[in-house]
Amino acid sequence: MRPLEWDVRFSTGLVTLDADHREFLALQNRLLEARVRGRGHRLLHQVLEQLIAWAEVHQAREEAMFDASGYPAAARHRAEHARLLASARNLRRRHALDLERMTRAVLGLFDYWWKRHILEHDLEFGRYLAAPTPSSPPPVDATVDVTA
Ligand SMILES: [Fe+2]
Ligand SMILES: [Fe+2]
Repeated sequence: MRPLEWDVRFSTGLVTLDADHREFLALQNRLLEARVRGRGHRLLHQVLEQLIAWAEVHQAREEAMFDASGYPAAARHRAEHARLLASARNLRRRHALDLERMTRAVLGLFDYWWKRHILEHDLEFGRYLAAPTPSSPPPVDATVDVTA
């Protein structure tokens, strides 16, 4: 797994969520880079604690936005949040694993979380919010130019 740089393709179109997702990437990259330098084990528990703290705040923020917008896929998305957070907490409890196996497991969770949650479910939510609703005015680009 290589460090990932933020790219416009990763954007949900929502400034707050994108800022949180950048933090997620930074955390993942911190562990990846430390591992490359042979120092991953030292950072492992700290990064896992930070991931759990990040998820508690970020997921609650996203879920409040589902409620405020009446997002129809909220239940499915919330269930996925709960599953991801439970996976991270379970890893914290698995002290019996050796550090190398645990580092691989945490990096695997980061990878899944990024690709299968943030880039799928979170971007889907961003598209939902960006889509015009029947009661909203047409986007500026779609208005007829009466001066033409
Ligand atoms: Fe998210
Ligand atoms: Fe999410």
